[in-house]
Amino acid sequence: MKDDLDSIVQNLRASMSPDGKKPGYAIVGTGMMGREHIRAVLLLNQATIVGLYDSNPKSLALGVAEVERVGGKAPKQYTDLAALTDDSAVDAILICTPNFTHRAIFDSVKASKKPIFLEKPMATTLDDALYLAQAALAYPAPIQLGMQYRYKSQYQLALSALEKSELGPVHTISLCEYRPPFLGKVGEWNKFSAYSGGTLVEKCCHYFDLMNRIAGAPPVRVYATGGRAVNFTEFKYEGKPSDIDDHALVIVDYQNGVKAQFILNMFSEELFESLAVSGAKGTLFAEEHASFKPNRPSRSSIKVQAKGHAAYEGFDCTYPEDIELGGHYGSTLFEHQRFRDQITGLKNDGANCAEGLWAIITAWMAQASIEQGQVIDVQAMLASKSLNPYQAGLLPQDWTAPITDDWETSERGLA
Ligand SMILES: NC(=O)c1ccc[n+]([C@@H]2O[C@H](COP(=O)([O-])OP(=O)(O)OC[C@H]3O[C@@H](n4cnc5c(N)ncnc54)[C@H](O)[C@@H]3O)[C@@H](O)[C@H]2O)c1
Repeated sequence: MKDDLDSIVQNLRASMSPDGKKPGYAIVGTGMMGREHIRAVLLLNQATIVGLYDSNPKSLALGVAEVERVGGKAPKQYTDLAALTDDSAVDAILICTPNFTHRAIFDSVKASKKPIFLEKPMATTLDDALYLAQAALAYPAPIQLGMQYRYKSQYQLALSALEKSELGPVHTISLCEYRPPFLGKVGEWNKFSAYSGGTLVEKCCHYFDLMNRIAGAPPVRVYATGGRAVNFTEFKYEGKPSDIDDHALVIVDYQNGVKAQFILNMFSEELFESLAVSGAKGTLFAEEHASFKPNRPSRSSIKVQAKGHAAYEGFDCTYPEDIELGGHYGSTLFEHQRFRDQITGLKNDGANCAEGLWAIITAWMAQASIEQGQVIDVQAMLASKSLNPYQAGLLPQDWTAPITDDWETSERGLA
């Protein structure tokens, strides 16, 4: 497994600064995440940043300064989205604006037919998530989502061990995240469920994506409890009080019998996340300690306690520092490697819209369960909203749709 880590790192390094013409990217939204993408793209040096657009002049100036700071050529500053999409130097568009804007911005740029990188969560509502997943099926170029946690070192190794069936058939999955409160944002959109989609959709779609991938089947029942205990209880923006949750416990039953749980706590001093997966042959533990505070380096580890496994005692799998600099402990670089490959026609494990849709469905059901105080039957809830994501192209990987007699076809679902 240590060899796997070495080859993952070597493969990334070997892909940096390739010869030949590099595609030009334009970024919509140069806030915190847009600027992380600027750093990752320029560090990887597989593409160039040709232009930026942000409706907030201060953010736009910060974006331009970031490109120049990291050694990129001064980017164009577009005055509107049309100027960006019409620019023939733009080969791909990165949408890094707040969650509630994603659908409208996609609609504004889709006529360009250019490859799109869309930040997570792809939408704030089930309707918009299904709309975008359906639109992606008809879109002539790749659309990749920003769910890069799957490329954190401990999760790349865990997913690869599971793919090789090193634990045998999986039965239980346990995930948790402990972290400090949400950071400040431009317009404080992440303090309001209407703009973010709610805490479990906004923040935790990463973990539901991992959970769904490992389970390999649609979620059928979700039970959750949670609420707001500590964070932003007195917070108001433009007179409006914040309404977001800061903790949750979620249990998910999957169609294939896999059982999963997720714990979120957002009033911790430091960041800690862990994954435990148990199969017939053993259990895998993957962990990460990190911090928003300076001079506290992150640390990732993994162990696979299956008889005779080389990583039985576990080992430190933290990425080397130069990789970590790419953002989110290195995972953002791997996501850009995937995106660049997709643009050139290579298929890979870049997060697609079907996976983004189901991460949102799982998170949304958990939020509904918290609100209603009861177990949510996923299919019944979707049917009650006339939404049908159980269709070819909308089910990730090799998931199979539930077999039922009473499914009501939806006008909004694909025929
Ligand atoms: N993948 C991850 O781990 C990760 C981490 C953080 C944020 N994100 C996602 O990235 C996106 C942006 O988050 P952020 O943290 O950068 O927020 P932010 O508030 O720091 O930046 C958002 C930027 O978008 C701009 N903007 C808003 N509406 C716009 C519009 N209609 N047109 C052009 N610009 C517009 C704002 O002016 C701001 O500069 C969100 O979807 C968020 O969920 C992902």
